[in-house]
Amino acid sequence: MAGRDLESTAKAIVAKGKGILAADESFPTIKKRFDAINVESCESNRRAYRQLLFTTRGISEFISGVILFDETIRQKADDGTPFVQVLQRQGVLPGIKVDQGAKPLAGAAGEKITEGLDGLRDRLTEYRELGAHFTKWRAVITIGDRIPSQYCIDANAEALARFAVLSQEAGLVPIVEPEVLMDGDHTIQQCFEATAATLHSVFNSLFEHRVMLERMLLKPNMVLSGKACPQQANVEEVARETVRCLGRVVPGAVPGIVFLSGGQSNETATANLNAMNALDEVHPWQLSFSYGRALQDPPLKTWRGNAANIQRAQQAFHHRAKLNGAARYGKYSVEMEREPVAERA
Ligand code: 13P
Repeated sequence: MAGRDLESTAKAIVAKGKGILAADESFPTIKKRFDAINVESCESNRRAYRQLLFTTRGISEFISGVILFDETIRQKADDGTPFVQVLQRQGVLPGIKVDQGAKPLAGAAGEKITEGLDGLRDRLTEYRELGAHFTKWRAVITIGDRIPSQYCIDANAEALARFAVLSQEAGLVPIVEPEVLMDGDHTIQQCFEATAATLHSVFNSLFEHRVMLERMLLKPNMVLSGKACPQQANVEEVARETVRCLGRVVPGAVPGIVFLSGGQSNETATANLNAMNALDEVHPWQLSFSYGRALQDPPLKTWRGNAANIQRAQQAFHHRAKLNGAARYGKYSVEMEREPVAERA
């Protein structure tokens, strides 16, 4: 794509000390987040909240890109500046979620397939014109009784590869997100196996679909114990097993791996990423973050829909981003959680 170098964009997104803010909650998901703080999910509240995040001063020190939702990429700040421009002025790359959600997979009870391939080529052209530099597609894999099935894994891998090659054709860097959910009582070993099987199938499909691995990013889950598993793996084990799993199946041509937080607490998501980056071993990819909940919990809970709280909410967001920025270097410590939040937002 003329004027666009996808490899440089992919590298810029995983620049040292930086990661992604996932702010691409669909209508049902943002409603769930707003319900938790007693705020109505209407267009003006969603706009006000996203404006709060995007206008936080100094955020580009730790945030390289923001994933937007279809509604958000078309919205403007109070002064009429499109959000895309607000981000660009901050030095942050705008991206866009292009899947249309995970639906029940026919013939596979309890499993899901992500929809959104129909008409995708035209939607990608429009998003590029609106200023997007990268795209995201999330597939959901569930661990349970005799699942995930190979059928579900392969069907999702195929869709991810179709999405990725269409994105590259449109001049957009695809973020390929196969999420093995942490819901359930499975062990970390079961998560390891499901994650390895999923990523193996995903890279097989990406190869068959002629996706250029240098021009994409992978957004996987970390290898964790299921939320309800009585035996919870500690930070060191999660870091070791996650990097061991990725090492087996993720080609070195992929410039970066940007983890989702997936329901981990803010502190745990930061500590796990930090531990991976503090490991001695050498690996070919940058290990970074693309967090939704683990970056937004503090600002959301501070804001609570009240304009008087905006500045404090921005400080909370800036601080969380800063801690994850430190985790990119393996330099985060729990003490940093308690440091006074700078009056800068
Ligand atoms: P979480 O970090 O909240 O899992 O969200 C990341 C994301 O983009 C899910 O698609």
